[in-house]
Amino acid sequence: MIRSVFKGVGSALPSKLVTNDDLAKQVDTSDEWIRERTGISQRYIAGEGETTSSLAIKAAQAALDDAGMTIEDIDLLVLATATPDVTFPSTATIVQKGLGGAGFAAFDVAAVCSGFLYALGTVDSMIKNGLATNALVIGAETLSRIVDWEDRATCVLFGDGAGAMVLGTQEVDAEDGPGILATKLHADGEHKDLLYTDGGPSTTGTVGLLRMKGREVFRHAVVNLAQVLRDVLEESGHSAEEIDWVVPHQANFRILDATARKLGLPMDRVVVTVDQHANTSAASVPLAFDTAWKDGRIKRGDLVMLEAMGGGFTWGASLLRV
Ligand code: ACO
Repeated sequence: MIRSVFKGVGSALPSKLVTNDDLAKQVDTSDEWIRERTGISQRYIAGEGETTSSLAIKAAQAALDDAGMTIEDIDLLVLATATPDVTFPSTATIVQKGLGGAGFAAFDVAAVCSGFLYALGTVDSMIKNGLATNALVIGAETLSRIVDWEDRATCVLFGDGAGAMVLGTQEVDAEDGPGILATKLHADGEHKDLLYTDGGPSTTGTVGLLRMKGREVFRHAVVNLAQVLRDVLEESGHSAEEIDWVVPHQANFRILDATARKLGLPMDRVVVTVDQHANTSAASVPLAFDTAWKDGRIKRGDLVMLEAMGGGFTWGASLLRV
């Protein structure tokens, strides 16, 4: 069977580090409150000249280097973001040019924090259907540009960054060989008012600012994520005990903890970077994956579950044999 296989991963962070104490000088909050409720201790914020595309280009180049490949080897680029450089053209095309590529398909995917999972599922499907051979899948965000810096309930939660993965095509004989084994994606527009921006090109003619009802988002996140993880395991014929690593969307430590508990998974098998990066939306899963790949936790042959939930709501999970 033809599978989409993992070739390499890379990430990039803006140069400006902002600690909880730094934020407490700006808004009425404290390091203690932020740590206790979210597990976050710091985040990176894009400065002048740093954009979603500039971070994405760095992450994608690092992923190509990790894979031992160049942009010449790539024939598809899919980029997930809720904070594109401009309304159009897509950030994917800007990144394609920035990497020195041209000609092959490049487009953006909008599923907010689940964007990377949506991009991964799309690329997996295109590879299996012969539409691409080697693809760059990128999650990149500068959420700091659409956060309301006067709303302490949301501005403390987010950070900027980018992560990228290279997927290739491989004929695999054994059922348990390498590659993406199963993916599930979901959406439910019923909950759009729990997490949204209060503007957009076609409504206000502005970008809008991020608005969220945190408590309700939390409740839905745990229920939806636990269910989609079970569904992906069932489809792939694997059990929770077989998972070597869960790489979750880094929204909040308490969501990660509650989801792992529901599956009976110990936290020492969950990759946690929310303390260092905060919530980087579509960038968070590949950023966390890259962190655990570089420090040697994730290894070739490992069974890794990727999962995310975001505005819409949208949510999804994917099981990968590295
Ligand atoms: N510093 C100090 N106090 C604060 C802050 C802050 N930054 N923000 C809110 N508070 C206060 C509130 O004003 C409130 O005060 P009050 O009791 O006097 O009215 C009190 O803290 C409690 O506020 P809640 O919003 O009820 O706090 P909660 O315990 O629900 O925690 C949080 C808020 C952390 C946002 C939580 O609801 C959460 O994690 N939700 C999940 C949302 C999330 O992670 N979204 C990310 C995007 S979606 C995704 O990626 C899945």
